Amino acid sequence: MQTVLSGIRSTGNLHLGNYYGALRNFIKMQHDYNCYFFVADYHSLTTHPDPKLLHQNVKSVITEYLAAGLNPDLCTLYIQSDVPEIPELYLLLNMHAYMGELIKTPSFKEKARKQPENVNAGLLTYPVLMAVDILIHRADFVPVGKDQEQHIELTRKFGRRFNHFYGVEFFPEPQAFNFGTDLIKIPGLDGSGKMGKSEGNCIYLKDDPKTIEKKVKKALTDQGPTEPNQQKPEYIENLFTILRVVSAPEVVAHFEDQWNACNIRYGDLKKQLAEDIIAVVNPIRERILEIENNTDYLHRVTTMGAEKARESAKKTLSAAKEIMGFRTF
Ligand code: TYM
Repeated sequence: MQTVLSGIRSTGNLHLGNYYGALRNFIKMQHDYNCYFFVADYHSLTTHPDPKLLHQNVKSVITEYLAAGLNPDLCTLYIQSDVPEIPELYLLLNMHAYMGELIKTPSFKEKARKQPENVNAGLLTYPVLMAVDILIHRADFVPVGKDQEQHIELTRKFGRRFNHFYGVEFFPEPQAFNFGTDLIKIPGLDGSGKMGKSEGNCIYLKDDPKTIEKKVKKALTDQGPTEPNQQKPEYIENLFTILRVVSAPEVVAHFEDQWNACNIRYGDLKKQLAEDIIAVVNPIRERILEIENNTDYLHRVTTMGAEKARESAKKTLSAAKEIMGFRTF
C-alpha cells in the first residue's frame, strides 16, 4: 500500500484554505492509503510564538483534524515534537543541504522580507525539516495546497541527492497531491492573495454562522459588470473560486450566467456563498466544541499516534544512519 504524509503548522485555528488545500484530501485518503498526518509544531517556532500559546495551538489543530473527520484508527495522527527521530534525521540531512539553494528558496525570501528582525537559521532550513517530515515515512504522496509545491520539489531534490551521494535507492520521490485536479489556492475575501492566518482574511472552521455571514458580506465587490461576458476582476473571481469549492455546480453555473448577462446581484451571491460555507463548516464546528475539552481523548489519540509514527520513523532513521556509515560497537 502506498504511503501518504502531510501536516499543518500549529499557528492557530484551521481555515477554509487549510481545509480545501489539504485536510479534505487527508480525510478521503485515510481509507485507501497508509496515512501519516501530523501537527507541525517545530515549524511554528520560526516566528517565535508565545510559549503560553504553543500548546493551545497544537491542541486546536489536533482537535480540528479529528472534528473534520480524521479517524485515528485509520491513519497515524501525531505531533511532530513527539517524534525525536525527526530532529535527528533533520541534523543529518542538513549536511546535504546547501546555503546557496536554501537562501534562494522563494518561501525563505518572502519570510525574510516579512520578518527582517528575525531571519533565524530555522527559517533558512525550514525546507530541510519539511523534507524530513516526508522522507522519514518514505511517503509517496503529499496532499498540500499550491503554496507548498516548491517545498515538495525540494524534498525530491534532497532525497535524490542522498540516494545519489550514497549510491542507494532509499528515499522514494514524493508527489504533491490533490484529488484529480491541480493543487489549489483558496483566496481570501479581502480582494487579493491567498487565505492565510498571517493575512488576517480567514474563514475559520470554528467560526459560527453569524461570523461567516458577516465576513462574506464584507467581501469586496463593485458596481457589477458593464458588458456581457466581461472578464472578472480578481476580487470577484476570488468569490467564484470559493463558490466553486463549496457550492453545487448548478449554483456556480447560475451565478456565472448572471455575471455573463450583466444582471448579477452580489447580495444574492454572497447570501448563497455564506449559506454553502456554513453547510460545510458548521458540522465541523459542532464537533470541535464536543471534542476540544475532552483531554483524555486527545491524550489517547496523540499517545497512540506518537507510538505508531515513531515505529515507522525509527526504521527509516536507523537505515539512513547505516547507509551513512554509523555503526554500534
Ligand atoms: P501551512 O500550515 O501553512 O498550511 C497547511 C496546509 O494548508 C494549505 N493551505 C492552503 N491551501 C489552499 N489555499 C490556501 N489559502 C491555503 N492556505 C494553506 C497548505 O498548502 C498546506 O498544505 N510547511 C507546511 C507544513 C508542513 C508540511 C510538512 C506539509 C510541515 N511539514 C510536510 C506537508 C508535508 C505549512 O506551512 O503549511
